[in-house]
Amino acid sequence: MAVHIGIDLGTSGIKAVLVENLTQVISTASLPMATSRPHVGWSEQEPDDWVSAVFTCLDMLKIQSPQQMAAVRGIGLSGQMLAALILDKDLRPLRPAILWNDQRAIAECHTLLARVPDIGFRTNGTPDPGLTAAKLLWLAQHEPGAMSQARMLMLTKDYVRLALTGDAATEASDAGGTQLLDCRSGRWDDALCAAAGWDPAYLPPIVASWDAAGQLRPALLSRFGMTGPVWVAAGAGDNMGSTLGAGGTRPGDAVLTLGTSGVACLVDYAFHPGPDKAILTSAHVVPNAFLSMGVVMSATASLDWVGLLTGQEPARLNEQAQAIFDTGKITECPLFLPSLTGIRTPLNRPQMTGRMAGLHPGVSAGSLAYSTMEGVAFQFADCVAAQNATGVAANSVTLVGGGTRSDLWLRLISTALNCEVGLVSRSESAGPMGAARLAAVAAGAPISTLCERITIVRTVEPDPVLAVAMADRKAEFDRLIW
Ligand code: XUL
Repeated sequence: MAVHIGIDLGTSGIKAVLVENLTQVISTASLPMATSRPHVGWSEQEPDDWVSAVFTCLDMLKIQSPQQMAAVRGIGLSGQMLAALILDKDLRPLRPAILWNDQRAIAECHTLLARVPDIGFRTNGTPDPGLTAAKLLWLAQHEPGAMSQARMLMLTKDYVRLALTGDAATEASDAGGTQLLDCRSGRWDDALCAAAGWDPAYLPPIVASWDAAGQLRPALLSRFGMTGPVWVAAGAGDNMGSTLGAGGTRPGDAVLTLGTSGVACLVDYAFHPGPDKAILTSAHVVPNAFLSMGVVMSATASLDWVGLLTGQEPARLNEQAQAIFDTGKITECPLFLPSLTGIRTPLNRPQMTGRMAGLHPGVSAGSLAYSTMEGVAFQFADCVAAQNATGVAANSVTLVGGGTRSDLWLRLISTALNCEVGLVSRSESAGPMGAARLAAVAAGAPISTLCERITIVRTVEPDPVLAVAMADRKAEFDRLIW
């Protein structure tokens, strides 16, 4: 029996799956994560909250499936990307982690671009307050005390792996988001570090995503009821983990993640950057591949926000939006730009706030929800078009993430993209399933395991009648941006 664990450290929650033979899910555990927003545009989390949530999820798996936990040989992690987390000499956090959807470091992006004009063609993208380097410049200016004690930079899943194994390491898919890495070579770059004011000695070593980057500590083996040894894979950025978990491994494979953010992840065998459209391009987690990412900053985060405003759960909002759709009243819905935390692809407007147009007394919670889903679908279409223009194809599209629970959202996205979209089983768990695949290779399975095909269990086709209505609304949506 080959048993592995995949853990995804999402922005709004942690999810762990215990998997046998890479396909059979034995048990799952998940916990929500809170984000603190001390000022408008700020977004932070406590790194030790990630660790305690992961440990609790592993405790939960042990309670559910003690026999299989004893047989675990590998753990893989995927995690929210682009955070800035600085550690002191004892590898303890000096302050909360600044997340990917934090907008504070806008001025610093101009500094970086002035220092390295071709940065967008060497790193994963154009400077963006969401990416790590600009945040390091911000910290140096605003929190020099903390920065003077900083001795290590860590990404989310790397910090959790450090807690699991005691070893500091990273891998190229996630490290690309720091802008300190030369993306073509996959190595830290001294000139980029100098531009961000970061000492290259304070960076973890880079190992292959599917390699073991440590072993689970003995005390944790006994806590989680494992016999060991348990290898912990270097892992993946969350978008790469989800892409892998949904079978996205070959050029032309496109996996759209519909989570807190929405990301169009297109697999490529060449480095095709698109900085002028704020596309992010990093190493993928299969050998010799890259991933082009078009990012909708607030996807399910937008629907959650409508839920907070209206006091409705997303599932209920979805029912109400579906009812509006079924009665053919979408033209009465407002138009929504999913820019609550800025727009990345294709406009690079990090400072932008959300926009909703066409409000009238008949607007209900359901119509706001429809508008939100439609706005995300429109921006996904803009992302994929911009990515295609850089030379990256999207030949087969699979959708994953929590938002795929909504049939309406699937239909809107398929129609906006004008192509069939596929679903895999457990599409809400693609991230941890991909992480489990990396764990298997780290524990000794052949590298070809990464590229085994994953069955598409269902497809959704574009709706020709909806396409006509959406075309008019897309023209209005485009006007909303300018
Ligand atoms: C990708 C991005 C987000 C984070 C969220 O570029 O900013 O998808 O990875 O987890």
